[in-house]
Amino acid sequence: MTDTTYVGAVDQGTTGTRFIVFNHDGQVVANAYETHEQFYPEPGWVEHDPMEIWENTKTVIMQALGQAGISPEQLEAIGVTNQRETTLLWNADSGNPVHNAIVWQDRRTTERVEELETNGTVETIREKTGLEPDAYFSATKAEWLLDEADPIKMERARPADIRDRAADGDVLFGTIDSWLIYNLTGEHITEVTNASRTMLYNIHDLEWDDDLLEEFSIPEAMLPEVRPSSDDETYGTTDPEGFLEAEVPVAGALGDQQAALFGQTCFDAGDAKNTYGTGSFFLMNTGNEAVKSDHGLLTTIGFQRSGEDVQYALEGSIFVTGAAIEWLEDMSLIDNPSETAELARSVDTTDGVYVVPAFTGLGAPHWDQRARGTIVGMTRGTRKGHVVRATLESIAYQTRDVAEAMEADSGIAMTTLKVDGGAVKNNFLCQLQSDIIGSKIVRPVVDETTALGSAYAAGLAVGYWDDVDSLRDNWQVDWTFDSRMDDAVADAQYDRWLDAVDRSLDWARD
Ligand code: G3P
Repeated sequence: MTDTTYVGAVDQGTTGTRFIVFNHDGQVVANAYETHEQFYPEPGWVEHDPMEIWENTKTVIMQALGQAGISPEQLEAIGVTNQRETTLLWNADSGNPVHNAIVWQDRRTTERVEELETNGTVETIREKTGLEPDAYFSATKAEWLLDEADPIKMERARPADIRDRAADGDVLFGTIDSWLIYNLTGEHITEVTNASRTMLYNIHDLEWDDDLLEEFSIPEAMLPEVRPSSDDETYGTTDPEGFLEAEVPVAGALGDQQAALFGQTCFDAGDAKNTYGTGSFFLMNTGNEAVKSDHGLLTTIGFQRSGEDVQYALEGSIFVTGAAIEWLEDMSLIDNPSETAELARSVDTTDGVYVVPAFTGLGAPHWDQRARGTIVGMTRGTRKGHVVRATLESIAYQTRDVAEAMEADSGIAMTTLKVDGGAVKNNFLCQLQSDIIGSKIVRPVVDETTALGSAYAAGLAVGYWDDVDSLRDNWQVDWTFDSRMDDAVADAQYDRWLDAVDRSLDWARD
């Protein structure tokens, strides 16, 4: 191993695409980022253009390499990490998508999921997939695409039945990892943590589930092969005739939240992290045991290395946290997210104002598809500072919701929580989080843990790193935040938060 080789990671998130080059110490050597357009064709619908995502992926890879003067041949491997659940179909012949991707936040299939309650499929889904049936996951999105995708885009003179073409393997299904791996290597592959978010994959038997494929009328021929997160065989290599002009192995992939778990070196049962992105996702490694939640958490696959058993995780999925800050910006309450700390500090408390940012329903632990955003407790004296502070507090309260569920399910009292993601640069938020949750909050030096996790997965597969112990050695603390709030005060404020959540529930029922 020399200092002149690296591992790269594509981090394809909800708002943009990043490519980071890491060295052997797990430090960032180059980093490039591009945002992509968000499409909202109808209220509650969210779409992305898969071609724009692929074009941006190529752009950021070339930009990052150019920035650091690194040639593609110096990359020993590429890892992929991605927004999970987001679903698309594409033509096997041309590689062209048949429709925009339906994003994880999209609510168009809410009614379809509600039908599952009446036909008794809910319990089957919980048992087989570890998921709480919700429009969040890929299954009903894929079903919608098979029913509704425009035949003209199917690139046949005669409009053909898309389902028949999918049954012949002419139309392919994928989540974003699949889409990127397909474009990078030409192989139709997904990896196991991404598969576990489709609501079509049996997390115990580790295979696509026939009963669920039948329920959602998904032809098996359209599904990708499921491979480990860190794959010694590699998924394939980049095309030397392609944009990179080099043959680089693509050897690791993880859904972004599982990638952060890996990047935070949460390799052992009981290790937990919370990532603050568009939403927040709190995952605890539960080892080889798929722990069933009694408190509204998901059981999901944490990661799998070649030749090893899968490691499971419990997950608290919070749909809107960073997106609530974006909403403050859209509402012109702030010009830039960096203003939030100062505005929040401009008032001592929220003066009883609570913001529940249930813009796309509520995920864990409430699971209410029809909850909607709610502000309660305003008076004539309410100012911008109060609303901004209440929005930041909503991030911390939602994390406490899932932390309490996690403790109850795992029986492990949480004393320390590793955090990462864009919002943890905000010291005010980290302190607030520690106060409200009553635990130490630990922020690592490298906060790009999502990309780092997928780089680690790819690098381990090709032998760039020898073992997970060397990765543990790379992990270093940047800052530890200790709780400064009296427990009784935190508990009283939290109880009021739960009252506010109650007001937001079931709001969008017709
Ligand atoms: O499950 C959705 C999640 O993977 C999205 O993550 O970082 O793009 O908000 P992010």
